[in-house]
Amino acid sequence: MVFKITKNLKGRDLLTLADFTREELWNMLKKSAQIKSDVKCGSLVHPYLAGKSVALLFQKPSTRTRISFDVGVFQLGGHPIYLSWNELQLGRGETVADTGRTFDCYVDGIVARVFKHGDLEAIAQVARAPVINALSDLAHPCQAMGDCLTIWEKKGKIDGLNVAFVGDGNDNVCRSLAEAVLKLGGNITVASPAKYQLPEAYAESLAKGSARGAKLTLTEDARAAVKEADVIYTDVWVSMGQEAEKEARIATFKPYQLNSALMAHAPGDAIVMHCLPAHRGDEITDDVIDGKNSVVWDQAENRLHAQKGIMALLF
Ligand code: CP
Ligand code: NVA
Repeated sequence: MVFKITKNLKGRDLLTLADFTREELWNMLKKSAQIKSDVKCGSLVHPYLAGKSVALLFQKPSTRTRISFDVGVFQLGGHPIYLSWNELQLGRGETVADTGRTFDCYVDGIVARVFKHGDLEAIAQVARAPVINALSDLAHPCQAMGDCLTIWEKKGKIDGLNVAFVGDGNDNVCRSLAEAVLKLGGNITVASPAKYQLPEAYAESLAKGSARGAKLTLTEDARAAVKEADVIYTDVWVSMGQEAEKEARIATFKPYQLNSALMAHAPGDAIVMHCLPAHRGDEITDDVIDGKNSVVWDQAENRLHAQKGIMALLF
């Protein structure tokens, strides 16, 4: 398969998808699809990172992101270095900026999962090596790119599709998904309790960055959100770092559970997506996540392909 890549993204940071144009997002998706297609045809040779080292800094737990970046760097011919925040001098009070400068003495790319988005910005400000956000409180851009690759594969397009996100509208996964889908020409409806909806100013900025005709709708009505959906997406109700709010959140989000009763209001061919890890029985029930509409395992696999495409272009 041959895809035309039209713009050079080498050296760019990826902190949020809001910083990228529609064309640049398509370049990342096309590169990812090309690498995936080559691998499926038996070619594992993509030496984009030959001789390069990539720091993988994690302040929070991770299964998918950690493994897929580690394997992805290896498959591109590079050397991944997993670094747990508390095992570095960071855990003893060295500043984030000094740590970023130190990384820059040794590595060619930095991938970081942090609590505070500002910490990523601080690293990006001092490091010449490109920085990729592996999840912060505000964004999960690599998740959204893997998700868009999955939607593109399953539905053949993103333009004009209706995506419904049901749950915590103001979470990192929903924000990045909305940034990507709207820029790529899809519509997104976010169904959340009012208290957890996307903040107004942010929703306005999303609308400004959208492709012509792409529509953002905010609602408290989960049934209305899924009624014409091509894609139905949910994420955990209690994100990492929100454990103190657990009981209140679970009580508030109960009517937003993705279960067979809610699916009965959706078109029969709507695909069900979840970034994982899932809290089965909370935001999604077993019959839905394991049901015929679910694409969550293809979605998880696509994290690897999408991130390889992103790293091939940025590092
Ligand atoms: N979806 C996702 O980022 O999963 P992990 O937290 O396991 O990396
Ligand atoms: N919103 C979740 C996503 C986990 C991949 C969290 O931040 O914990």
